[in-house]
Amino acid sequence: MIYLDNSATTKPHPDVLHSFQQVSTSFYANPSSIHPLGGEAEQLLLTAKKQAAKILRVLPEEIIFTASGTEGNNLAIKGVALEHQKRGKHIITTIIEHPSVYNTCLALEKLGFEITYIPVNQDGIVSPEMIEQAIRDDTILISVMHVNNEIGSIQPVQEIGERLRKYPKVIFHVDDVQGFGKVPLNIKESHIDLYTISAHKIHGLKGNGILYKQSRVSLFPLFHGGEQGEGFRAGTENVAGAVSMTKAMRLIKEKEKEKNRYLFQLHQLLRQELEKIEGVFINTPKNAAPHIMNFSLPGLKPEVLIHALASEEIYISTKSACSSKQSDYSRIVAACGKDDENATSALRVSLSYEQTKEEIDTFIHTMKRIITKLRGIMG
Ligand SMILES: Cc1ncc(COP(=O)(O)O)c(C=O)c1O
Repeated sequence: MIYLDNSATTKPHPDVLHSFQQVSTSFYANPSSIHPLGGEAEQLLLTAKKQAAKILRVLPEEIIFTASGTEGNNLAIKGVALEHQKRGKHIITTIIEHPSVYNTCLALEKLGFEITYIPVNQDGIVSPEMIEQAIRDDTILISVMHVNNEIGSIQPVQEIGERLRKYPKVIFHVDDVQGFGKVPLNIKESHIDLYTISAHKIHGLKGNGILYKQSRVSLFPLFHGGEQGEGFRAGTENVAGAVSMTKAMRLIKEKEKEKNRYLFQLHQLLRQELEKIEGVFINTPKNAAPHIMNFSLPGLKPEVLIHALASEEIYISTKSACSSKQSDYSRIVAACGKDDENATSALRVSLSYEQTKEEIDTFIHTMKRIITKLRGIMG
């Protein structure tokens, strides 16, 4: 089996599963309970927060554990919109955000907010200058992803953050669900106020995420209830989830240090081999994140290729998992100026640090064989 769909989700690391099971078995008390077992669970949660904060180089009280990247993005965007709407109702984002940002912005439009969607260039990269030019007196939030989930383009987050220093009232949110552990980013140096990550993209478990919230930023909570989650995320805390997520963060950061160059080499190999196949158009720009390679095969239906590869136990995807069951049309590939043929035939291969060169070779050989056969059938 060759799994090349790591941007959709990753295989949980055995140590992460072990932590989850250990904490669930031995420290299942409610961290808000005042008896000693509750105290122990609370201590574990606090330790997890401190560890996550150390990895992100922020303060422990700036960590909010969430249930997903989607929740983190919703809490950041709706939380700012609802809390700061008296100051203004204008939000700036890009045209290539993940649906958890894009659809949240569309929903806010229905509530009377005005959203400016900044276009990207042909490499899928937004211009910091265009973002700055879009700022108005009533702008309250700018939300820009770090690494695009479909094509892997890296956004100039630090440069945007530096420009935003001139606008201290504008809150800066970054969705780093795809970049964390693959493309380094310093939250403080990039002047980020809100920052989202998700455990299941880094060999953690589904159902865990983190929203970093700069201490001075105030949010309107999505859930009201107890005082958990620094008062911004009510609900009994998932201590085992928090502990296992910080384990996954630590492990992926080690891999990033040890094997980032290796992943870039595999990515390069994949690009070179794909470029040799007639009729393949690469949609991932040069200088992209090392784990995502998007390409189009005009004339071939992506799902036909996906199923043919799956029958040989090779797993890739179209676009992102969140929208791949819908139409084949990629809003992201189209936003980079590609025509409809390219935008409706895009495929995504996404790698993990555990991938081998042999797996890439097998994938390429199998794909070539399948393409030849499909083209033969189609005459
Ligand atoms: C860039 C990006 N943001 C947010 C999300 C949503 O994360 P989750 O699946 O944890 O809700 C994803 C998931 O694919 C993503 O790729």
